[in-house]
Amino acid sequence: MKKDFLYGVGTSASQIEGSYAVDGKGLSMADLLPANKKKRFSCVQDGSFALANYDTQQEYYPTHNAIDFYHTYKDDIRLLAGLGINSIRISIMWSRIFPTGEENEPNEAGLTFYKSVVDECLKYGLEPIVTISHFDIPVHLIKKYGGWASRKMIDAYLKLCQVLFTTFKNKVHYWITFNEINMILHLPFVGGGLCFKEGENKEQKMYQAAHYQLVASSAATNLAHQIDPKNNIGCMLAAGEVYPFSCNPDDILAALQKNREQYFFSDIQVRGYYPSYARELFDQKQIKLDILPEDNEILKNTVDFVSLSYYSSRCVSVDPKVQQNITNGNAFASVKNPYLDVSDWGWQIDPVGFRITLNNLYDRYQKPLMVVENGLGAMDKLTSEQEVHDTYRIDYLQKHLSALQDSQKDGVDLIGYMAWSGIDSVSASTGEMSKRYGFLYVDYDNSGQGSGKRVKKDSYFWFKNWLTKNS
Ligand code: BG6
Repeated sequence: MKKDFLYGVGTSASQIEGSYAVDGKGLSMADLLPANKKKRFSCVQDGSFALANYDTQQEYYPTHNAIDFYHTYKDDIRLLAGLGINSIRISIMWSRIFPTGEENEPNEAGLTFYKSVVDECLKYGLEPIVTISHFDIPVHLIKKYGGWASRKMIDAYLKLCQVLFTTFKNKVHYWITFNEINMILHLPFVGGGLCFKEGENKEQKMYQAAHYQLVASSAATNLAHQIDPKNNIGCMLAAGEVYPFSCNPDDILAALQKNREQYFFSDIQVRGYYPSYARELFDQKQIKLDILPEDNEILKNTVDFVSLSYYSSRCVSVDPKVQQNITNGNAFASVKNPYLDVSDWGWQIDPVGFRITLNNLYDRYQKPLMVVENGLGAMDKLTSEQEVHDTYRIDYLQKHLSALQDSQKDGVDLIGYMAWSGIDSVSASTGEMSKRYGFLYVDYDNSGQGSGKRVKKDSYFWFKNWLTKNS
């Protein structure tokens, strides 16, 4: 690894903080997602159900308490620093800083919390990598404007950015504008706070919201550079190569088109303009976007680095029979690849796909890459000796870290790797605690019951040792 390589772990505010309604915090989109699986599945796609049925008496909402990081952050950061990492990915909850998103002045208590979190990271020499919007929007902005379906969101977001960039000047140098920006096409409520009416052209709405986010991201990039030229701004993709199931040219074409679904976003954020294939894509889907001439100027503010999450590759086929054999994967269902094992949640495990994904992204953009999420969600067991023997996670990480090193040998310019996640947290998609990714086990179950005790898993010691040898 290069000497200045950032090696760390990732977290996301709504999935760890809890204390969803204290110190002036407003309600966030994430706070409306119930634990109940069936209901949650409908909510992540379309916010109408979530908004109409929010009821704290009837439902359990996992982010309301999460893992109580709001109170335990000092201990948690100390434990994570103990891994020997030099960086940490955190995120900010918009509704702690601007409870409705429309105040003129930030909520001091919310800002104070994040100032302490950042200071705590710096105390241990951890470079903070801050995601400005990680699946989080003030509910007020969703109710009033329909979330990112409205151009109004751009100014509200930039107001947040202005506060963050000035408050953390000289302390934070790495920012990610939107977590997995392409997720808006797969989980539109989670990615953009979107709700749909019957018969509405969903794709029109999703791509319009994507356009506003892309403009907001570019304007934020410009703002960050103006406030502090030392700021590095990254876009972020939920990445993972889509393979053709066979060498049938129609499968190859289908894979190319599927891959463009993710590249669409980074093509704009890295190159500064819409890709040529967008015209045909929009024609086919009968999409007409509100794009002002000044938007195109703003989009020219391109990112400094490309960040990505990678959990698994995917597969596509044009053969209806093959299409019936589907498996899950981070909100993207995929044709089952017969060469790959799957996780407890059906996500295909493919370290070589990691190397391929990194190579393809670097070939395409020639921009530094930062991996900000990679890890295995699994059903861990705490033994009576208070140990967690997560050999499967060690195996996953070992192979993916080797693939990362192989990609560096291939010539990929990598600047960082953040494992997902440092500490067990509420799953973004399913709301479960039992879908664990952390190096630190947290004793809470799916209904929020438990002592909250933190336990170092076997993978904690393994990663610490790996870092000693490889960093
Ligand atoms: C990414 C998100 O999609 O995947 C994280 O950025 C999320 O927030 C992670 O936790 C794993 O997904 P899940 O749904 O298993 O939590």
